[in-house]
Amino acid sequence: MCGIIGVVGDDNALTTILEGLHRLEYRGYDSAGVVLVGEGNLWRSRSAVGTQSVEALGKLTASAPTRFHTGIGHTRWATHGEPSEKNAHPHLDCTETIGVVHNGIIENHAELSQALRARGHEFHSETDTEVICHLVEEEMANTSDLSTALRRVLKQVEGSFAVAVVSANDSDSVVVGRRSAPLLVGIGHGVTLVGSDVSALYGHADDIVTLEDDQVGILTKNGLRVVDLQGQEVSPKHITLDPGWDLQAAQKGGFPDFMSKEMAEQPQAVRDTLLDRFDAQGRLSFDEIHIDPERLRRIDKVVIAACGSSYHAGLVAKYAIEQWARLPVEVDFASELRYREPVLHEGTLVVGVSQSGETLDTLEALREARREGAPTLVVANVVHSQMAREADGALYTRSGPEIGVASTKCHIAQMIALELLALMMAQWRGTLSASSVQEKVQAFHALPDLVAETLSRKKTVTKIATQLSEVRDFFYIGRHVGYPVALEGALKLKELSYLRAEGYPAGELKHGPIALIEEGTVVVAVLSSFLREKVLANVAEVQARGATVVLVAPDGDERAKDVADHVLWVPAVQDPLMSPVVDVVPLQLLAYDLAQIHGKDVDRPRNLAKTVTVE
Ligand code: M6R
Repeated sequence: MCGIIGVVGDDNALTTILEGLHRLEYRGYDSAGVVLVGEGNLWRSRSAVGTQSVEALGKLTASAPTRFHTGIGHTRWATHGEPSEKNAHPHLDCTETIGVVHNGIIENHAELSQALRARGHEFHSETDTEVICHLVEEEMANTSDLSTALRRVLKQVEGSFAVAVVSANDSDSVVVGRRSAPLLVGIGHGVTLVGSDVSALYGHADDIVTLEDDQVGILTKNGLRVVDLQGQEVSPKHITLDPGWDLQAAQKGGFPDFMSKEMAEQPQAVRDTLLDRFDAQGRLSFDEIHIDPERLRRIDKVVIAACGSSYHAGLVAKYAIEQWARLPVEVDFASELRYREPVLHEGTLVVGVSQSGETLDTLEALREARREGAPTLVVANVVHSQMAREADGALYTRSGPEIGVASTKCHIAQMIALELLALMMAQWRGTLSASSVQEKVQAFHALPDLVAETLSRKKTVTKIATQLSEVRDFFYIGRHVGYPVALEGALKLKELSYLRAEGYPAGELKHGPIALIEEGTVVVAVLSSFLREKVLANVAEVQARGATVVLVAPDGDERAKDVADHVLWVPAVQDPLMSPVVDVVPLQLLAYDLAQIHGKDVDRPRNLAKTVTVE
């Protein structure tokens, strides 16, 4: 979480930093701050006014001196210490000559700060970050070189971090380091930048360098030098920017917010995820999985690890892989998998699903899998993200940048990529006939238009949302693949509108949760073609207890019309296992509309951040 930017050699350093912070805001927006480096002094400004922090920082810095060409900036998602100005980054040491921005968590900060206090350091914040400032301050007493000081400090700290450090005694460099948190360096003409992701570097640099764990980078206007923690020079990895990603793609393009834009982009996201993945005979063929075919043949189990919406996409994949490829599948919350000593071996394919490719829980689950000797694959949206770099193969969802905190187009693209993988596995294993594979390939190609058709029905969803504007309690239910759709619908409503929304397998309601159903509770039921009659029976049970029922139902389903109070009609899909791709769309729209009705900021819901790089 948190966004970091730093720049050296830029006559418009402040403008570049503020622009970068705007682009990184989706990583957190509890507070924002900047430190500019002058000859012998640091100039700092910070603001902590929630979602408007970067905007406010722009105003606060309007009177900043213009001579600075080096600086660092930060937009925060709070972990240690409330969102407030004193906890906003950059933090300074006792001499106010060292400035630090940090993303991640220093796990041993309590011991370190106790020892530092005992040695006379004064702390001004409740953050874990501040220990880095004081540790660098101490090391600088023994060496005048900032990178040597940072290397020594990084050996003392535990946890995950990306840090950028500046010193008032060296206005010509920014020193950075990382462990398990993202950090990229961009090299331009006479300007060098560091950022938490590529969006911060666009327009300033074409040559992008990734830092690996426990590497320290020294940025000057002439470029970058990278050393390991022992000070040995290392050659960093250069990457090419994804041509599909540009600044325009990261802006709103005439939509009122990123979420509307990203929902509208869903048909294209599905199209792009399907692109080039079939050979001339229409059979699936993609070469992104760099796992030895012999190793693939030995796979006897699939484990999917993910969080949030990506986890829900993983649940959908379970049905497809089990049904089409006849392989057992476990789907785990990544945060649970990594700590439970999972039974993994070289016959277990571990698939991480992540829009950002940086989510720490998923990253660590994949690392655990690799330690156990299991082959790993990641379904990611961000090319060259940490997970993509570390896994044995990466299947990209090609959806372009997703800025809105609530995942929409990437969630849909994840389901497509995972179902393509399921079909690929069926091909490897010969569990489906050639004609069945062909039918499914056709069904995939029909999906972009069906998603577009569903989006075009927005007005009906808005009408229903208006009628539900007073409701505070929602249940989402479904069976089979309708169940992950119910979970996703409930998550969208919770995170966007802060209303209480629970997702359940429809058959589970009677085992407890049905006690909560009363007059006025809204139950949204997903009526996919699997177990339709049983879902309708569960609907009757909640109706008998006073619930108002909203059904997601395929066009022409007469029973749905008779039974429900409201129907969210969706076009029928050719292959029922693909129905979640269409069924989830009206639930995204419903959550969006209810959030608007309740006056919530859909792009930046409270307490959330787009990329979660903490545990
Ligand atoms: O980048 P990831 O896909 O790994 O992120 C996982 C979750 O944090 C993410 O899906 C989150 O639940 C979204 N806010 C859902 O809309």
